[in-house]
Amino acid sequence: MLNKELEVTLNKVENSRRKEKPDQNNLGFGTHFTDHMFSMRWNREKGWHNAEICPYGDFTIDPAAMVFHYGQEIFEGLKAYRGAGNQPLLFRPEDNLKRLNDSALRLCMPRIPTGEILKVLKALVYLERDWIPEAEGATLYIRPTMIATEPALGLRPSEEYLFFIIMSPVGAYYAEGFNPVRIHVENTYVRAVRGGVGEAKTGGNYAASVRALVEAQEKGYTQVLWLDAIERKYIEEVGTSNIFFVIGDEIITPPLGGTILPGITRDSVLTLARDLGHKTTERPVSIDEVIEAADNGELKEIFSTGTAAVISPIGELCYNDKAIVINNGKSGELATLFFNELQDLQWGRKEDKYNWLVRVG
Ligand code: COI
Repeated sequence: MLNKELEVTLNKVENSRRKEKPDQNNLGFGTHFTDHMFSMRWNREKGWHNAEICPYGDFTIDPAAMVFHYGQEIFEGLKAYRGAGNQPLLFRPEDNLKRLNDSALRLCMPRIPTGEILKVLKALVYLERDWIPEAEGATLYIRPTMIATEPALGLRPSEEYLFFIIMSPVGAYYAEGFNPVRIHVENTYVRAVRGGVGEAKTGGNYAASVRALVEAQEKGYTQVLWLDAIERKYIEEVGTSNIFFVIGDEIITPPLGGTILPGITRDSVLTLARDLGHKTTERPVSIDEVIEAADNGELKEIFSTGTAAVISPIGELCYNDKAIVINNGKSGELATLFFNELQDLQWGRKEDKYNWLVRVG
């Protein structure tokens, strides 16, 4: 079915029913949705079918749909940017679609035809181009999602799926914007073990994380930093993003060992850092090493990277009730450099020498 050309129907919203655009300078994250969405269905007999760009709206789903009971769900997050001359731009969309298929494999779900879906995505973004915010740093966040829809309660892979793409104009993910956030190092709960689903982008990983998030927020922290599930020693990732440390002259990030999300922003920062001549290493980093580096003045910066979070400097870590203040709680030089470099690339203000941009329209 992957080779069959996808037939996509276009069913536009009447002009009189278009939504009012939200205040660009007060978008928040993921609370407003555009006029249209894309959806298609899968079953064994027809493969992907009923593909349509249609008005944004509710689905009718059987209460026995397997996603509601066993959580067979995967998703992605990417953004559209308003480039010069109002040109809509997508950043590394093929990588998101490929990662969706990697998640699909792990969750026993059907793969999507990435070439066809990229075409659909471009058509959808073009149709909704007026929704791409103009305000500095604001973007159109895109959420491709797949859920198991077969009504059945026996535990096995679903035989029916729904794939959809919704889009939301967003500002900064954190209320702090690019200002440093305070992070709680989680030492009660764990996120993933090797062999589990930690590297898949599946809702269950996020559902399992919210208890820790709520407890961290109750203590005044914005997010949690996960440690490995076996030794509770090695750093994994932040609740929403990957993490980088600048210790001495080395930029370090934990390796992709099956338990953390293979972030596209993580990969972009590694590429940029190497190209700019920085020493970058993907290796295990223990919380003890971070504390020791902080104590002896070698810890220069910590920042996290993700599609939603972009580059988010970390001003404080709290581990076992001990606060570690990083760079006097200020945004560091390298976090600022990568934030600017990345945004210049994403908005097409810099030569696209890595071929990361896809122009729409
Ligand atoms: C993203 O960065 O795109 C994510 O999916 C993280 C989510 C917590 C917003």
